Amino acid sequence: MDLAYLADWANLLIRWLHLITGIAWIGTSFYFIGLDNQLDPPRNGNPRVKGEQWSIHGGGFYHKQKYAVAPERLPEKLHWFKWEAYWTWISGFSLFVLIYWANASTYLVDPAVLDIPAWAAVAISAAMLVGGWVIYDLLCRSKFGENEKGLSLAMVALLVASAFIACKIFSGRGAFLQVGAMTGTIMVANVAMVIIPGQRKMVAAMQAGREPDPKYGRWGKQRSVHNTYLTLPVLFLMISPHYPMTWGGEWNWVALLAITLAGALVRQFFVARQLGRNQLALPAVAAVVVVGMILALAPARGPQLAEGDAPTFAEVHAITAARCAACHAARPTDEAFAAPPKGVMLETPQQLRRWAPSMRQQVATEAMPPGNVTEITEDERAKLLAWIAAGARTD
Ligand code: HEC
Repeated sequence: MDLAYLADWANLLIRWLHLITGIAWIGTSFYFIGLDNQLDPPRNGNPRVKGEQWSIHGGGFYHKQKYAVAPERLPEKLHWFKWEAYWTWISGFSLFVLIYWANASTYLVDPAVLDIPAWAAVAISAAMLVGGWVIYDLLCRSKFGENEKGLSLAMVALLVASAFIACKIFSGRGAFLQVGAMTGTIMVANVAMVIIPGQRKMVAAMQAGREPDPKYGRWGKQRSVHNTYLTLPVLFLMISPHYPMTWGGEWNWVALLAITLAGALVRQFFVARQLGRNQLALPAVAAVVVVGMILALAPARGPQLAEGDAPTFAEVHAITAARCAACHAARPTDEAFAAPPKGVMLETPQQLRRWAPSMRQQVATEAMPPGNVTEITEDERAKLLAWIAAGARTD
């Protein structure tokens, strides 16, 4: 069994795990933020209880109470939420290594953006993963941390810088995933380095018979609120590889910021609504941003050939054989692939016809060939597009 085949299985199984744990994590995160925002004043006199909520789910009634700091006595059994977050990161990081680091010259490096060796791209990618968290964490702990507005601005500046730097170093696709991975790392580190340690200190204080310091509760809550605004942006970045129109262009860092902003605004709308405020301006702005992106990112009509100048099929076939078939063949000769990527084979006339519409997207956005490894020329791109525009005829 060859390595690329096993890598495909690893890819599938880890991705599956990543989705499951990610859903569990974000699900609990949404749930608790929503619960916190929708607590009613407590009815039955325990002065330590800050709020409560009745709900019905799965055929049962639930009565939840939130304590301002902590209950009087530590309950015997306390449910913690951490493994969903940890496993989301472990699986996500493994997937990132398996795809983007192990095949850095395909996925991370685009010589047209910056011609660096694969190892250098991996080193920069790793440094950015760690650096993003360190800077963010220092910001939260600095005097900015006290001031929510100042901190939000600093976080936006950090995101702008990360997007710009990543898009000027990595392939568009790699840059989007890099920023997504950095954001995801910050979210998990918030759980592992701030929220959980703070909770441990609170529990330890109670075990020692002391009242826990409320600052841990405040810090944890602050990070958990940051996490909630980051969820939608991060999910967009994670699915972005499927959508080359978002990262294929020269201004891709602006597209990254605009779309993540739209995601954060939508999340903010839901949070505000839970608090009883209907801020319709938020989704309205998000919609304007998205429509703006749809218009701004519409591919130019591609390199144009004169009317009636459609290349012959023989020419097209020669181009795809040279520039695409190393990967898109029943038996790829590119060693990174055991099977044609996405099942797309571009060898026979029938196959070329069948995939023509999807080829157009990939060729026009310059998503394919990835990092232009096979060095397709502008003229050849123009010919492929002209052939497709003229009906992808194979006779
Ligand atoms: C170095 C290998 C390689 C080369 C060369 C290559 N591709 Fe791809 N292609 C891939 C990979 C990997 C994917 C899957 C991308 C993903 O995971 O989203 C892909 C996906 C595609 C898809 C499917 C996109 C989708 O998500 O529906 C099309 C169409 C495509 N390539 C066309 C081309 C064309 C046309 C060429 C030549 C101009 C080409 N590719 C050259 C590796 C390659």
